[in-house]
Amino acid sequence: MQLDLNGKKAIVTGGSRGLCRSIAEALHDSGAEVVIVGHSEFTEKAAREMGISKPAVYAVTGNLENREALGEIFTECMKVLGGRVDILVNGAGTQFRSDAVDFPAEEWEKVLSLNLSTVFYLSQMAGKEMIKHKYGKIINIASMTSFFGSCRIPAYVASKGGVAQLTKALSNEWAPKGINVNAIAPGYMQTNMTKDIKEKFYAQYQEITSRIPAGRWGTGDDLKGLAVFLASDAASYISGAVIPIDGGYLGK
Ligand SMILES: NC(=O)c1ccc[n+]([C@@H]2O[C@H](COP(=O)([O-])OP(=O)(O)OC[C@H]3O[C@@H](n4cnc5c(N)ncnc54)[C@H](O)[C@@H]3O)[C@@H](O)[C@H]2O)c1
Repeated sequence: MQLDLNGKKAIVTGGSRGLCRSIAEALHDSGAEVVIVGHSEFTEKAAREMGISKPAVYAVTGNLENREALGEIFTECMKVLGGRVDILVNGAGTQFRSDAVDFPAEEWEKVLSLNLSTVFYLSQMAGKEMIKHKYGKIINIASMTSFFGSCRIPAYVASKGGVAQLTKALSNEWAPKGINVNAIAPGYMQTNMTKDIKEKFYAQYQEITSRIPAGRWGTGDDLKGLAVFLASDAASYISGAVIPIDGGYLGK
């Protein structure tokens, strides 16, 4: 088994908190040098906390919604990683809940921009570098809403459906060049993004929980194993896959 990530260099967007912080920790624990990208002051702090043991964890701060800033953010990541990237985790994401009839246009643009367009542009930049070395692992964070439509989150489901299709499209072009492009589709996970369901819509929270065969919501720890596997050479024949981690929800 080749699950070891020693000597590998990884970029993890959204790695300052939530699910992608857990993924960044797992890649680092498996030996990778990691740069986390986030838009808040917590990004530096998270990198310091994670990077106590070797190899290094670096922070790059920037707003990934801003198309114009993406080139600069990627260049900075490459600089701190010494000019090579082996693993890209496209994890930064956002959510907005509203009835479709009232859904504000600016929120539609924001969700689609961060959750889908940024995934494409960063993959494009990383893909160019990976193709030079004929080696790379791109892991997109999709969702169960890549498979079903849910309610009151039309921009989110459109973006995550897009992430699943983009994963396959990039895999088709890049698998022949030595790059594996896959997606993890988390189910209902306890994070900042979903805490309002428990706080404001408790009946819905209970209904969801009762439908999860595992009997509980997921956590970042539940994603660690698959993230390391997909980032490793043990998964070198897996590409274009969108893999759910949902406590059995989709199967019910
Ligand atoms: N929580 C769930 O139930 C769930 C389910 C399926 C998929 N996901 C996906 O997992 C990923 C992580 O979400 P989470 O649940 O950990 O939520 P979270 O809100 O805790 O984390 C979101 C991350 O994205 C970063 N981010 C947000 N806007 C940004 C911006 N403009 N620029 C740079 N970084 C920005 C944040 O800093 C944070 O690190 C997202 O793509 C989300 O869609 C979450």
